[in-house]
Amino acid sequence: MYTEQVMDHFTNPRNVGEIEKADGVGEVGNMKCGDIMRIYLKVNDNEVIEDIKFRTFGCAAAIATSSMITEMVKGKTITEAMKITNKQVAAELGGLPAPKMHCSNLAADALKKAIENYQGNNNQVNNKIEETGNNCNRDCNNCSY
Ligand code: FES
Repeated sequence: MYTEQVMDHFTNPRNVGEIEKADGVGEVGNMKCGDIMRIYLKVNDNEVIEDIKFRTFGCAAAIATSSMITEMVKGKTITEAMKITNKQVAAELGGLPAPKMHCSNLAADALKKAIENYQGNNNQVNNKIEETGNNCNRDCNNCSY
């Protein structure tokens, strides 16, 4: 039923875990089955995804697509990552059985949500800079700006 690539990513998933103080977090649930996926992003000043981790409570296809999408976007810019579709993720896995294609939506949707969350956080930081006139773009807890 599953390709070798799916079985590989399911039994040996890459980038499982969480990122403390992530720049963006996205979580989606699959209405059809109740499965949940969460993606954490670390993004550098050049908008490149330096690190990405996931937690998925779901089927083999959901875990394999989660693992694959983290491999596909690591090192890519936010703009490039935003263009990745569930069909591309499934294709990288050598395909998914038709009844399992909906599972691949979890990964693509969670990634998009994490990016949107990052962009929202980033706007808040930029707005703060505009308000204070401060050139620093780091959001430090002890900063007086
Ligand atoms: Fe739930 Fe695949 S059956 S994500």
